[in-house]
Amino acid sequence: MKLKGQHLLSVKDISLDLINELFIVADSMRPYATRQKVTRVLEGAVLGNMFFEPSTRTRVSFGCAFNLLGGEVRETTGLSNSALAKGESLYDTAQVLSGYSDIIAMRHPEAESVAEFALGSRVPVINGGDGPNEHPTQALLDLFTIQNELTSQGKTIQQLSLTLLGDLKHGRTVHSLCQLLALYNGLKIQLISPAELAMPTRYVDLLINAGHQVEIGTTLEQGLPQANIIYQTRIQEERFSSQEEANLYRGYFRLNKQIYAEHCQSNAVIMHPLPRDSRNEANELDNDLNAEPGLAIFRQTDNGILVRMALFACILGVEDQVTKHERNVNWYVGLNN
Ligand code: CP
Repeated sequence: MKLKGQHLLSVKDISLDLINELFIVADSMRPYATRQKVTRVLEGAVLGNMFFEPSTRTRVSFGCAFNLLGGEVRETTGLSNSALAKGESLYDTAQVLSGYSDIIAMRHPEAESVAEFALGSRVPVINGGDGPNEHPTQALLDLFTIQNELTSQGKTIQQLSLTLLGDLKHGRTVHSLCQLLALYNGLKIQLISPAELAMPTRYVDLLINAGHQVEIGTTLEQGLPQANIIYQTRIQEERFSSQEEANLYRGYFRLNKQIYAEHCQSNAVIMHPLPRDSRNEANELDNDLNAEPGLAIFRQTDNGILVRMALFACILGVEDQVTKHERNVNWYVGLNN
């Protein structure tokens, strides 16, 4: 596959053909992700999992995905725990870490920092989020989830009516997702945010130029009724110049059972890249939705493992050898089955 030996720094590097091939590989990873089988196809390989900005699911799922393919993981977390805090450059850090790893996943708070790091790396680098810029693996797992959710309703991606909701100005996951959606045409996309947190014009133009029907609004009523997929986002407080400014928007759009019942289609799917802000003053996705079949947020995080396993297998060129290195598990397999 075209991904072999390549960096994944931006969704701009991704074509529709590549997505389709990658998602076939991701689907094939299900037996390993759900512990029905074990594969050791990456035995001896090392992932450098470098997270210089907070993360739970991206960092841990990169590590799990690599382990599930039989590889080992070395991690560093937080800028202050690394030599970057002593003034070491991203280039030098990359030269060093790529001597210890076969592939590197990295998150950093500054836009374009992962691309700068990749210039110094001797092994493939995957962008796990660079400031407000991009989050390509999240966009891939979001698109994989959108396709799976629509398929389970007997629909195709061409029937997508997607509402992106919340902080569309700072949310890197929605920026990356819009770029992937621009590979399709004729979709319905609603962009709903406070006016000050609107989707940057370049992404709106990209969607319009791709031939999508794009509506922009500032109220839930404008975005919810026509959507078959609702993608809620967090107010990205870490990207605001002050906490006071972020507080103005906290809790601006709240989804809960009552609003879902009143305004949404009966089988509408709710997604969120997570973390959801569950503090009282925000509560953007209420716990009273947890039992709704349409709430796909944990199917989404499970899909993250499949997509990241597929990326590792394809970038390291072993996607055709996974089954050759498999065996049955010999322990009790519980919740995942
Ligand atoms: N969705 C996402 O990037 O989550 P984390 O910040 O926990 O990695």
